[in-house]
Amino acid sequence: MTESGGCCRCCFSFILTSGFAALFLWLSLRTRKPKCSIESFYIPALNQSLNSPLNSTVSFDLRLKNQNKDKSVFYDSLNLNLTLVGGRPLGNVTVPGFHQGRGKKAFRNETIEARGVDWKAVSRNGSAIFRLDLATAVRFKILFWNTKRENLRVGAEFKVNKQGATEYPGITLSSGAAVPDGSPVTVIWSSWVFVLWKLF
Ligand SMILES: *[C@@H]1O[C@H](CO)[C@@H](O)[C@H](O)[C@H]1NC(C)=O
Ligand SMILES: *[C@@H]1O[C@H](CO)[C@@H](O)[C@H](O)[C@H]1NC(C)=O
Ligand SMILES: *[C@@H]1O[C@H](CO)[C@@H](O)[C@H](O)[C@H]1NC(C)=O
Ligand SMILES: *[C@@H]1O[C@H](CO)[C@@H](O)[C@H](O)[C@H]1NC(C)=O
Ligand SMILES: *[C@@H]1O[C@H](CO)[C@@H](O)[C@H](O)[C@H]1NC(C)=O
Ligand SMILES: *[C@@H]1O[C@H](CO)[C@@H](O)[C@H](O)[C@H]1NC(C)=O
Repeated sequence: MTESGGCCRCCFSFILTSGFAALFLWLSLRTRKPKCSIESFYIPALNQSLNSPLNSTVSFDLRLKNQNKDKSVFYDSLNLNLTLVGGRPLGNVTVPGFHQGRGKKAFRNETIEARGVDWKAVSRNGSAIFRLDLATAVRFKILFWNTKRENLRVGAEFKVNKQGATEYPGITLSSGAAVPDGSPVTVIWSSWVFVLWKLF
């Protein structure tokens, strides 16, 4: 009786201790993907006070923020596709990969030559809606080791006004996927799965 009780208590404290260990590891290994947004977006061909419908340049300022205060990020090269919603692909650009320090933000001013677009028809159509998609993979540096590559695919649709620019700065590119959360037991259990997945 006392023997099985002791065993039970021992077993219980083992589960509790390893559960807390897993929770602690999970908290320190947990990573947040970078936040991507467009700070500004400009198409001179759609600026009605400019009258330059033949200028095929599209320029934008991409902002990349490392949301982890204690982990740096390695970006693979970033592929960006621009499309006219309801229309056709306008072009693409590849931004070279780089290493970003903890909690840092980076800006990339990029241009895309969207040739063969009838900009006059686009502006006659009223407000034009564009879509920018970004695809890359990221790894995080935690203390002395790097995590596996994780895919990062985000995008956003936005309107361009009569000045050929976006009305508001800071358009967040999002994946549309929600982050799941659960009860403490699920958290401890998924912590173990997560720790094993991160390490091996
Ligand atoms: C549109 O063109 C006008 C005239 O050149 C310029 O003043 C204005 O800044 C341009 N709009 C944007 C958003 O750059
Ligand atoms: C197109 O517009 C941009 C921004 O105003 C300007 O820098 C560029 O020189 C223009 N290109 C042509 C071919 O006019
Ligand atoms: C990217 O754009 C170039 C022209 O600038 C085009 O030849 C190529 O097919 C495009 N790639 C993709 C994946 O759309
Ligand atoms: C990017 O362009 C914005 C204006 O569109 C400018 O304020 C900013 O300084 C530029 N950044 C770089 C790194 O050139
Ligand atoms: C104009 O708008 C319609 C419907 O919104 C769309 O189907 C068409 O492709 C647009 N044309 C251009 C040139 O943007
Ligand atoms: C860009 O377009 C190409 C060709 O359609 C596609 O293979 C690629 O996955 C797209 N990239 C993004 C970031 O959407």
